[in-house]
Amino acid sequence: MHTNPRHPHATTNAFTGSHAFIPPSPSDSRSPCPALNTLANHGYLPRDGKNITPSHLVHALKAAYGTTTPLAWVLTYGGYFLLRNPPPPASLPSLSPSPLSPSSLSHTLHVLKALPSLYKVLAPLDLADLALHNHIEHDASLAHSNAAPDSLYAPTATNYTLLDQLFAFATPDDTFTLSSIARARVLREYQSNNSIDPFHAEVARGEVALVLGIFGPALTDTGNIHGEGIDMPLFRTWFAENRLPAGWSPKHAQTLRGTVEISKAIRGAMERIGRGGVTHRPESPQTVVVRPAPLIIPSLANAAVTSNVSVTSNGSARGVPLYVQDKIASLWAGGVGH
Ligand code: HEM
Repeated sequence: MHTNPRHPHATTNAFTGSHAFIPPSPSDSRSPCPALNTLANHGYLPRDGKNITPSHLVHALKAAYGTTTPLAWVLTYGGYFLLRNPPPPASLPSLSPSPLSPSSLSHTLHVLKALPSLYKVLAPLDLADLALHNHIEHDASLAHSNAAPDSLYAPTATNYTLLDQLFAFATPDDTFTLSSIARARVLREYQSNNSIDPFHAEVARGEVALVLGIFGPALTDTGNIHGEGIDMPLFRTWFAENRLPAGWSPKHAQTLRGTVEISKAIRGAMERIGRGGVTHRPESPQTVVVRPAPLIIPSLANAAVTSNVSVTSNGSARGVPLYVQDKIASLWAGGVGH
């Protein structure tokens, strides 16, 4: 066992040599992104998490996670761009009826007016910079609390209560599947009162698509997306400790196209569940609780956002007229399976 002079309590029990796992010291910079923190904890990025150049990040993503060059470029340069520009408007530009529509024009103008010099966009960053709220960072994260109101930065520390909630979506055979991911995202959007805008909802799906792609079984670009998932021991170690388990290495190249396909599949699965379709965490991996989309009964949905106990476990609701309870019960019977 080797100890590091900067981190006297750290051990290198996952990897050896320059990519040994060493947890961060209090002065190190860390982000809300488990993937990038892991890269720093394993020395693929500077261990102090500071002064990271785009080319360093591209190399680290390829070496540690097996991303192809185009994917590493899009993630890196897209990330720097989003970070160094004002947050995008809450809605995505409309693709129709025309690029000259007011919403498309305002998006284009917004980006052009705000575009800082290339030098500023590509200047090295510290991992903590990435917590700048509503640039890349967003509400309804799986394992991080939302930014406090009026706060410029969101917390970078993992929220372990949320993490437990996330892990509870594993299947009975201890796997984290596309369905687990979709349910977890629906629940977080619901718990955050749908405060995440469409652009960042897309970003959030991209994040988990990357995880499923990289740590899941090899998928061809359009392959078996709905197949197996990620082994929970690996998923837990990575998400909870920002650490790669001993001996792990990328099993396949992760492509840009493959990631987009998975992200689309996650979106489809989330739409099938329905916004608000999952209103509280499953009690155990065996009992994933799926609820009817509250869009159908908006007043009840609002009540359930502010109070999780307003809808009981069999789908009935306290203080709700009987005919509404009947409606819920019938919707409840048509829940979504794994
Ligand atoms: C293989 C590459 C990557 C993977 C697998 C990945 C994965 C993830 C995951 C799963 C989250 C969600 C954490 C949560 O919901 O609690 C996340 C968040 C984040 N990632 Fe990454 N990421 C990758 C690359 C990047 C890059 C290149 C950047 C920026 C340059 C970045 C910036 C962020 C930021 C700012 C967040 C916080 C978003 C939030 O508010 O939840 N990530 N990432």
